[in-house]
Amino acid sequence: MTVHNNSGSLAIDNIGSLITNDEALGRGPLGIIEHASVVITDGVVEAIGPAGAIADTRIDAEGACVLPGFVDSHTHLVFAGDRSSEFVARMAGEPYDGGGIRVTTDATRNTPTSELDTLLRLRLAEAHQAGTTTIEIKSGYGLNVADEVRSLEVASPYTDETTFLGAHLLPAEYEGRADDYISLVCGEMLAGATPHAKWVDAFCETGAFDADQCRAVLEAGSEAGLGLRLHGNQLGTGPGVQLAVECGCASVDHCTHLTDADIEALAGSDTVATFLPAADFSTRQPYPDARRVIDAGATVAIASNCNPGSSYTTSMSFCIALAVRDMNMTIDEAIQAVTVGGAAALRRDDIGKLVPGSAGHAVILDAPTHHHLAYRPGVPLIRQTIGPLGDFAG
Ligand code: NIG
Repeated sequence: MTVHNNSGSLAIDNIGSLITNDEALGRGPLGIIEHASVVITDGVVEAIGPAGAIADTRIDAEGACVLPGFVDSHTHLVFAGDRSSEFVARMAGEPYDGGGIRVTTDATRNTPTSELDTLLRLRLAEAHQAGTTTIEIKSGYGLNVADEVRSLEVASPYTDETTFLGAHLLPAEYEGRADDYISLVCGEMLAGATPHAKWVDAFCETGAFDADQCRAVLEAGSEAGLGLRLHGNQLGTGPGVQLAVECGCASVDHCTHLTDADIEALAGSDTVATFLPAADFSTRQPYPDARRVIDAGATVAIASNCNPGSSYTTSMSFCIALAVRDMNMTIDEAIQAVTVGGAAALRRDDIGKLVPGSAGHAVILDAPTHHHLAYRPGVPLIRQTIGPLGDFAG
């Protein structure tokens, strides 16, 4: 069930366990309050405590756990086509090298805008049903001026968190001319994309773009007024993390292969290390050891990376389960990483928590505690999602 809560007053009552993400409000690092109520007025949390009768609508949580809506800070949701055969081949031993991005680029270029919009809405509906209330959406399957701009135009009605990723992979028509392509990305493509984007991103990896090429894209994006993010250290160690820190990126995403120096750089910066465990699952990469990163003092996030090649899932619950089972994160840390961590990766402090004044984005579980999200993997435990994506997704 979807609740649209942009206007009017809503009380979620009879909550068994409320995660506020504010230590001052409740128990432990998640600020848990037992037997709580939340009042949301005009989309903003008004109060936590006994709800009273002031709300127009009342939801009885029947003792369930309520937590902030998930903040999915890394997706590639604008695409057409199917690449399940690549997944099948990988499960039979083929490696992932990112080359399939061109397959999706061909399909996306050849799909009418109305169909891209329909496909996006279906994916947003799926994400919303799975508990996501804020979502970042990248371009990156257009790879020419018209189709990169078109991808961002398709995404921008649905989220403020749009990212220009023209430097995702070298398109076939630029083979052998990577520097010419980077000039296009930094020039005409960026100029067309900027009105529809909040962020700029690049894929810094062997086989995609090198550090100098990515630096050029980040500098041009910054000059155009965009915030910075970077794909780095997905398939091996490399310059991505250091470059992201050097350029002041809000987030460096993947972080699957990290050296001690990378971790030290992250810990001394305000660049968030965003892990994408569903991509490591689907590409058979080793899982990163998040424990080292957290213990060093870096801020971490977890996102779905929903895309047709390396991670075709919108399920943040699945990502939580992987992070807890395989990345040495506690359940509390994984919950923080998909809520306040994602918010930090988007440089937002109005989402990812349930405190007076924050966005009234919430998830009601079919479970008494948040532990069940990792304890019951694969089970659809999201009973109800309260938040704005539902306005578009239906
Ligand atoms: O984040 N790494 C680069 N981009 C996507 C994969 C895209 C694809 O294979 O289509 C990612 O994993």
